[in-house]
Amino acid sequence: MSITVEALLRQGYRGEVRNADVNPLLLGWIHTNCKTLSRGQTIDGADIAGLLAGLFDRLNVSDVSGPEGEAVCISKARVIRVHSYKYSSSPPRTIQIPVMGDGADSNPSVLVYELPSISFADLWEQLFFEPDIKPMLLRFVSSLLLFSERGVSLDRVSWNRIVLLHGSAGSGKTSLCRALAQKIAVRSFSKFSRVKLVEVNTRTLMSRFLGDGSRLVDGVFDWILEQARTAPDQFFCIMMDEVESIAASRKAAAAANEPADAIRVVNSLLTSLDKLKGCRNILILATSNLLGTIDEAFLDRVDLCQHASLSYDYKMACIFRDLCPDLPSSKLLAIAEKAHGLSGRALKRIPLLMHVSSSDDEFVSLSSALSAMCQVVDQEREAVQSIAEA
Ligand SMILES: Nc1ncnc2c1ncn2[C@@H]1O[C@H](COP(=O)(O)OP(=O)(O)OP(=O)(O)O)[C@@H](O)[C@H]1O
Ligand SMILES: [Mg+2]
Repeated sequence: MSITVEALLRQGYRGEVRNADVNPLLLGWIHTNCKTLSRGQTIDGADIAGLLAGLFDRLNVSDVSGPEGEAVCISKARVIRVHSYKYSSSPPRTIQIPVMGDGADSNPSVLVYELPSISFADLWEQLFFEPDIKPMLLRFVSSLLLFSERGVSLDRVSWNRIVLLHGSAGSGKTSLCRALAQKIAVRSFSKFSRVKLVEVNTRTLMSRFLGDGSRLVDGVFDWILEQARTAPDQFFCIMMDEVESIAASRKAAAAANEPADAIRVVNSLLTSLDKLKGCRNILILATSNLLGTIDEAFLDRVDLCQHASLSYDYKMACIFRDLCPDLPSSKLLAIAEKAHGLSGRALKRIPLLMHVSSSDDEFVSLSSALSAMCQVVDQEREAVQSIAEA
């Protein structure tokens, strides 16, 4: 049985914190002060006395192998992993990548976040999927980091460092990519000097000029490769949202007599990905809601293809509980059943729409809040249905 504890350092703390010094002390504190731990449990940093006093904002028990919700006796845990981290509050930077060429109409751009970023604080915890999805992604990432760290040769075990999340619109794919990158940063805080999330704007890779698209793709990926090679102590999570726009099936393009440029873009992407796979400090996170339109050679390079779906009522109830913690669970579950078929995005706007639909500035009673919620869910479902029928 293993337990993972993520320890958020106090933002205002100015001193130098070395994980190698702090983590063993924290582990000692946990052994002395905690008899049991359970997943999701939070320990307030103010409760930590002694040498570590004033250092932490909070500890979060993020993973416990074993049955969900069960408290684990720490004396029985085979491994307790501790990760101390601090948020970066720097805003993301947009970088225009200069691409040489005659017809270049505009430079492609990427958005770079320093991780762990305050912008994605608690994002992982606020996303609800089938119980297996998030642990599976974490296991994949730890195996990938371990294989890279141990220098496992690509000749023996071949992998391409690509995760693809697919699912319907608003199911949480983009958010899950960002949250996963943030998790990587938290858990490898001591291994890399910096972790960055590079969001590639796939739309800026499509050019108005014939033949220019593949040059833009080459330009962006050459830039990424250079970043990764010149900073081997940093880790780069490369996010390609809506990847179908640059990885569309070449077969379909050829059959539809589409310009050869679309095919060249995919060729460039595939060769660039092959160059990146040798970089130990890169992970590519792609999303799509049109899996069927993606080129099969791209899909073949994907190491983990994960469906991000919100199909069970219980996850909707989790989202509702997160949004409206004061409403009784049984009622929320009943409303969640009504909300079947709505996307995560639609569910998240329900509190706002509830407020809009109420005549008062605030809800006066629980029952009026619940009936407003039911009404809004009905309206949202009708809207979805009319879009589907249009
Ligand atoms: N499974 C989920 N759990 C919690 N929140 C969710 C979930 N799915 C979506 N949301 C919320 O809905 C909003 C939109 O999510 P996101 O942009 O990640 O979806 P997406 O799958 O990338 O959508 P699209 O296909 O339109 O790009 C976010 O605010 C997100 O927090
Ligand atoms: Mg998205």
